[in-house]
Amino acid sequence: MAEKGARPLDYLKHLPMMAVVAAALGVGLGACGSGNANTTAEEPGLGAVGAEVYAEACASCHGADLSGTDKGPSFLSIVYEPNHHTDDSFRNAIANGSPQHHWNFGDMEPVDGLTDDEVEAVIAFVRTEQERQGFEQ
Ligand code: HEC
Repeated sequence: MAEKGARPLDYLKHLPMMAVVAAALGVGLGACGSGNANTTAEEPGLGAVGAEVYAEACASCHGADLSGTDKGPSFLSIVYEPNHHTDDSFRNAIANGSPQHHWNFGDMEPVDGLTDDEVEAVIAFVRTEQERQGFEQ
């Protein structure tokens, strides 16, 4: 009699744990889903798109970690902080290129083939990284 009563109780004890595991799995799956999915995505999706665009279109000159290469300047230079180079200057540089004027890397050519959404995403990515890494002095 006592044994019969114990079993359902043991089962109940495990329920909270199972709920935690299920929740963790659910979160994991959700994150994967939004990575692959649509373009109407909110912040996380936008960040992923921005990082991808940056890696493909900007990193070869501006550096994978934004710190520049021998072909282009670091975006962590204080020169590129948002009040000095606004988001519009990024839109303009992507659309029209940028003649050499701050450095000696030569001109930046326009970056073709990006959609408006990709442009906004890559700017958001640069701003996020600038904030995360901080500016060089
Ligand atoms: C082929 C090399 C190259 C690539 C690729 C490149 N840039 Fe540049 N970029 C440069 C160079 C060089 C300069 C510096 C020009 C100067 O001020 O002397 C520059 C400058 C800039 C500036 C400053 C413009 C200004 O108003 O002074 C911005 C913003 C910029 N790049 C954004 C980007 C973004 C965003 C991407 C990717 C979508 C990108 N660049 C890809 C070479 C590149």
